[in-house]
Amino acid sequence: MSALEQEKERIAIVTGGASGIGLAAVERLLADGYRVIGADRNGEQLANLTQDKPEVAWRELDVSSQTEIDGFRQEVDSRFGCPHVVVNAAGIMQDNVPLDAMDMEEHDRIWDVNYRGSFLMCRNFGLAMSALGRGVLINIASITALRPLPLFAYGPGKAAVVSMTESLAGHLGPSGVRVNAVAPGFVLTPPIKAKIEAGLRDAEDLSRSAALQRMVTPEEIAEAIAFLVSDRAAAITGITLPVDAGWLAGSSWGTYGGLRVSEQTQDSRTRNQEGME
Ligand SMILES: NC(=O)c1ccc[n+]([C@@H]2O[C@H](COP(=O)([O-])OP(=O)(O)OC[C@H]3O[C@@H](n4cnc5c(N)ncnc54)[C@H](O)[C@@H]3O)[C@@H](O)[C@H]2O)c1
Repeated sequence: MSALEQEKERIAIVTGGASGIGLAAVERLLADGYRVIGADRNGEQLANLTQDKPEVAWRELDVSSQTEIDGFRQEVDSRFGCPHVVVNAAGIMQDNVPLDAMDMEEHDRIWDVNYRGSFLMCRNFGLAMSALGRGVLINIASITALRPLPLFAYGPGKAAVVSMTESLAGHLGPSGVRVNAVAPGFVLTPPIKAKIEAGLRDAEDLSRSAALQRMVTPEEIAEAIAFLVSDRAAAITGITLPVDAGWLAGSSWGTYGGLRVSEQTQDSRTRNQEGME
């Protein structure tokens, strides 16, 4: 394929593409006409996806490894050319453990994947994009970066992702590369579902503090990603966009007894329910 033909085809890389938010981003970018490369360290899931979604170029990759990212970038460069979009959705969660029970190996692993992995991807592909004078990088932060929660490795690691997004937007902006982050609220993806099923999290609790009284779907995060990578967001760089069903707006209402549904709404809901019975 000639260099000109390659430029006509928009290439997007999604890390963590085998599950949850990453998989929803893969599907959304495919629908928007991108040639998508899905990278993930979960080889078993990649084998299933290779059967189910052969239109995606699936690759096994540990984003916390500089060596693996170097090899991945060389392969992408020779097979597809420099990507137009990189979405860093690879990430791992943290259990809510007391401060003195925080295992430092787990702490470091969370930073290695969530922060270091995103930084390595941004540095490698951001520099290649900047040499061509175009491209968009998207990091997946979290509302835990914006409000304190008892997740002592995960929250600060995501705050560092926000800070890195801003720094890189300044560094790469003059060459035409945009860098933004999305900060999801609570999204019903496999790790959150597993915690709910194990009784470690309560779906009601996760919804109650959000202004819209619900969790977020992976597709709603993918929608924000699709907007930020598109030309509709051509003047947007260095921001972190919360997509949280209003969790940031509602989470501090506990001080005043929590969010309440108005009596009028409650009455009309009750009437509707009675009408349905
Ligand atoms: N689900 C939520 O409520 C929520 C909220 C805020 C932020 N996030 C963030 O969104 C991102 C995606 O989370 P999710 O909920 O979709 O989880 P998920 O487990 O469904 O998907 C994460 C994917 O990342 C992959 N991965 C993990 N470590 C990797 C590594 N070292 N190299 C490459 N791939 C790796 C996993 O194999 C998995 O496929 C994460 O960064 C997470 O912190 C999620």
